[in-house]
Amino acid sequence: MTIHPEDLLSAEERLKRLHERLGGIAYGGDYNPEQWPREVWLEDARLMQQAGVNLVTLAVFSWSRLEITDGVFDFGWLDDVMDLMHAHGIGVDLATPDAVPPAWLVEQHPDIMPERADGSIFGFGSRQHFDVSHPVYRAKSLALTEKMGERYAQHPALRMWHVGNEYGPTSYGPWAEKAFRTWLQRKYASLDELNQAWSTTVWGQHYTDWNQVRVPAQPRTWSNPSRRLDFHRFTSDSMLEHFKAERDILRRHSPDLPIVTNFMRFYKTNDYWAWAAEEDAAALDIYPDPREADAHVSAALNFDLMRSLRQGQPWMVMEQATGAVSQWSVNVSKLPGKMRLGSYQAIAQGADSILFFQWRQAKGGTERYHSAMVNHAGPNTRIFREVCELGQELKSLGGLTGTRSTAKVAIVFDWDCWWALELGNSPRSDLNYAQEVLRFYRPLFEANVTVDFVNANSDLSPYSLVIMPASYLLTDESAARFGKYVSDGGRLVVSYLSGVVDEDNTIRLGGYPGALRNVLGAWSEEMHPLAGEDEQVKLSTPDGGTSAASYWTEHLHAGTAEVLASYASGRLAGVPAVTRNAFGQGTALYLSARLDDDLHRLLLSEELHAAGVVPELDVPAGVQVRRRAGTKADGTARSFLLVLNHNDAPVQVDVHDGGTDLLSDRPVQGTVEVEANGVLILEEKVASWHWDWTRLRRQSSGRSRTRSAATSLEAGSWRSNGIGACTHC
Ligand code: GLA
Repeated sequence: MTIHPEDLLSAEERLKRLHERLGGIAYGGDYNPEQWPREVWLEDARLMQQAGVNLVTLAVFSWSRLEITDGVFDFGWLDDVMDLMHAHGIGVDLATPDAVPPAWLVEQHPDIMPERADGSIFGFGSRQHFDVSHPVYRAKSLALTEKMGERYAQHPALRMWHVGNEYGPTSYGPWAEKAFRTWLQRKYASLDELNQAWSTTVWGQHYTDWNQVRVPAQPRTWSNPSRRLDFHRFTSDSMLEHFKAERDILRRHSPDLPIVTNFMRFYKTNDYWAWAAEEDAAALDIYPDPREADAHVSAALNFDLMRSLRQGQPWMVMEQATGAVSQWSVNVSKLPGKMRLGSYQAIAQGADSILFFQWRQAKGGTERYHSAMVNHAGPNTRIFREVCELGQELKSLGGLTGTRSTAKVAIVFDWDCWWALELGNSPRSDLNYAQEVLRFYRPLFEANVTVDFVNANSDLSPYSLVIMPASYLLTDESAARFGKYVSDGGRLVVSYLSGVVDEDNTIRLGGYPGALRNVLGAWSEEMHPLAGEDEQVKLSTPDGGTSAASYWTEHLHAGTAEVLASYASGRLAGVPAVTRNAFGQGTALYLSARLDDDLHRLLLSEELHAAGVVPELDVPAGVQVRRRAGTKADGTARSFLLVLNHNDAPVQVDVHDGGTDLLSDRPVQGTVEVEANGVLILEEKVASWHWDWTRLRRQSSGRSRTRSAATSLEAGSWRSNGIGACTHC
């Protein structure tokens, strides 16, 4: 069958159809029936119905049960499970099981196993044990994908495809090496170009023949950072290439069904911007650690990242746990209500699917202690009761599917920056990029400001404020784009270690942050990381306020920029620390140090205020508010306000005009109580005749009569610290 691109549905249309066929939000999880006798399957199907399950993911790890030995297939059991699911009205998200090449294949081709940088080879007995560049691995997994496509594309239970599982293994073996060389030959027009890009004159690494170019295996001492950056890019690209090859086969068989793979939180190996662009939806596996009181904050960051990867399109929670996981030293179970709250948090942040790993808790194998929708004790448990309750509730929330949130603030999150920053041999090898991003995300989250993530190539025009935490690597084009954003009237906040290197990971000369010197109107002549864990330097403001910085400082020169704070102790005493530059119609703030929390929040609050950004609603601490809006099939507007209480005590929230509480189907307005770890999901009244995004945003901010985000962000103590005065409050 030939598919003409013009006949293909868009990703958004495929998702829309998926949710129409599922009857709303997707609910279910990974189902591994091959681990259980057939009589259990029937009980599973019945319990799934009881729980409101409408989608299960099958066959993720089933390669050895589907291709028993080379070319000998047994699809009979999977046919039966697919039929059983269909008979019970449950849809299937069918996986290609390429994460687990079977023992017979590894026996035939031991070099399928990935090789570590030190040349040692992983042993069989776990999963993700493949070098994605191995030609036999590729051929065999594509052949199996073809067979699955042929066999199941028309099955009435099939709702979507799930390619592989958590792509990630990096291999330094011979097949990876060959593919790396080919990748480099595509990237660089000549070996001279590669020599130039990799600065091979340093330490005498000049190449005279392509065959000399190898993977960056365990070096004698330190290895070339430009080469290692290219190897990161290659690793992500080579796995993506394999994903695309399987996707294209499945697309040929099922042009209208969504095709995804599952992402991991804070996962450095794969550039999820590039990956998400090739999928129908971003899909996340999320396992917040219940031992961390604020685990929901880093979860929120990951949720907003998923929402942003496909520019606001609804995304999927592909896996989460009902209770404990089995991957940490102490695996604490989620407290009652937390699984429900976490699920609604994902929905509030744009997810239209709530799926778990897994349906039935395994009896044996590595993850036998990982909780499930049906635990070892069976269905007569708190967890299964919570699973059923959530499944029932989600049935009333179908109207949310397809709706979106809008943000006026964006944070830059970029894999090139991540890779380049954490390669070592830098002034600070302990820098954690994700934590740097979280440091800027957290206060905005706490102030209930909706944030999008963008990368260095994104369209910045929707945003009034763009934040660049440690945006270390910038190409000339992306630097120019950020510059234009500011000169056109945008507000930019840039932190230390931004714009330092170019795309080859070589330093931009003339002072840091090279790529942004112009727009920032300031430059640094030297980096001064602070060595001691608790080492601090004092800061002062022109009007006599004081604060502190730690971790990182720079010898900064303010050129055209205004100095907002200077170093007041240590070797940089008297040197500017924080500057703000007027550039064209906009402004650019530079933080050359890790500021103490109060000043960090104050500066962000001033930026938000100046950018006209308001929180979704004025609420007590620990309460998260998000809004999702869109149109019904008939074109009329819909708007939903989701209020999540992350506190272990009830709170009072003023929802003003309110709307219909979808979980109780009652009208709600004014001050309402949200129970501990509870949620409120309101469908707001929206006048259908004047539907437009801008107006809706204006209405919502006006209606809530909120404090500005600036006021919500104030730490309070900055005044007593004597740091200036908020000129806007
Ligand atoms: C990942 C995997 C699952 C399972 C869970 C739980 O997300 O995709 O197969 O192992 O973790 O640990």
